[in-house]
Amino acid sequence: MDKIKIIGGQKLHGEVKISGAKNAALPLIASSILVNGKTCFTNVPDLMDISSIKLLLEDLGATCESSDNYLEVNGSSINKIEAEYDLVRKMRASILVLGPLVARFGHAKVSLPGGCAIGARPVNMHLSGLEALGANISIEHGYIEAKAGKLIGNEIYFDMPTVTGTENLMMAATLAKGTSVLRNAAREPEIVALADALIKMGAKIHGAGTAIITIEGVKELSSVDIEIIPDRIETGTFMVAAAATNGDVLIKGCEPDHIGGIISKLKATGSRVEIVADTIRVKGNSSIKSIDIKTLPYPGFPTDMQAQFMTLMTIAKGNSVIHESIFENRFVHANELLRMGADISISSGNIAMVRGVKKLQAAQVMASDLRASASLVIAGLIAEGTTVISRVYHMDRGYEGIEKKFSLLGANIERIK
Ligand code: EPU
Repeated sequence: MDKIKIIGGQKLHGEVKISGAKNAALPLIASSILVNGKTCFTNVPDLMDISSIKLLLEDLGATCESSDNYLEVNGSSINKIEAEYDLVRKMRASILVLGPLVARFGHAKVSLPGGCAIGARPVNMHLSGLEALGANISIEHGYIEAKAGKLIGNEIYFDMPTVTGTENLMMAATLAKGTSVLRNAAREPEIVALADALIKMGAKIHGAGTAIITIEGVKELSSVDIEIIPDRIETGTFMVAAAATNGDVLIKGCEPDHIGGIISKLKATGSRVEIVADTIRVKGNSSIKSIDIKTLPYPGFPTDMQAQFMTLMTIAKGNSVIHESIFENRFVHANELLRMGADISISSGNIAMVRGVKKLQAAQVMASDLRASASLVIAGLIAEGTTVISRVYHMDRGYEGIEKKFSLLGANIERIK
């Protein structure tokens, strides 16, 4: 298994280009199931999770061709409605094929995603939403089976905003008979990107990006070209890395409108953040101010940036309270940061008190999930000595060429095979 070795202490300087967003690409690629023809994607990030969804679509019978951040999916040859355990267990987002399969074929069987490092992450709202659209749902031998002649539009209320749940139901409702209304829907930029693509395909969707999305079902969707939006979490990760190392980094090809919460919080730590069109320049400050953070559904502060900000707070002046309100077990990185000399205590499972220390010390640490691995890379960049991070396959799921990008910014970082 690959490891990442970092010799800390370099200030990051230079320019970095942001890749396409993993969490936008996954539902968009799943939406190609709805089309009896070709869907072409550009700006597709080269990631393990993208390979996983591609393999899953190929297993369903779709034809995929890819090269250099380009992917073409032909859904006309899909001849299987079962997403198997071995493919789904690698990536929870595989649940995104459930809505499109049942909408187009009236029948789908998808392995129930198993446990997850960051929380239980049930899919009950995906299932009750499909039931509201008329699907008959059963769970047997670890598989969800959804059967419906034709889905029928209906009102769906989410107990809490769910990103992939909203995406699954929005895709399913595009081919349902009649009108569906999703209430308390998630409002993330990835939802808007999916709605825009579906509208381009011929779907009738209003209100994406607000808590109420209305979808008027259509008979079929057609072939289109889709460009994946920039990754707001990768953008935020480089912003925090620039601030933590007291560097000066120009981040190009990003979408500042998608990261208002991250920009505000980073400015509050004392960093300078300059925005010009699709670029963000972050200049660090030798004295980082401590701030408090509470993760919330968009447009609140993203849970996917909590770990990276925790690393920044380990070397801030004063105390910081970090409240993780989305997932119940998303502080595993805190234990690794403790091994690097951070001062963190966790109360009631989801509130962390971080007391700033002068310096982190290098150590051997282990990544537990995708964003935790990014927080450990940032910790390695600021720590004294040589940090070795194991289990970086978590990072490869969601960051395209991360060590190459950091290396171009002057970091002393390498992958050990
Ligand atoms: N939830 C339920 N029941 C459901 C669905 C969700 O109780 O049926 C709960 C979850 O357990 C969680 C909350 O609702 O407590 C919100 O979860 P959500 O469904 O929004 O998360 P997700 O759709 O599974 C996506 C991202 C995650 C990101 C979260 C929150 C994708 C592929 N994944 O997950 O991304 O953390 O939204 O923003 O879009 C990552 O990229 O590292 C990552 C984990």
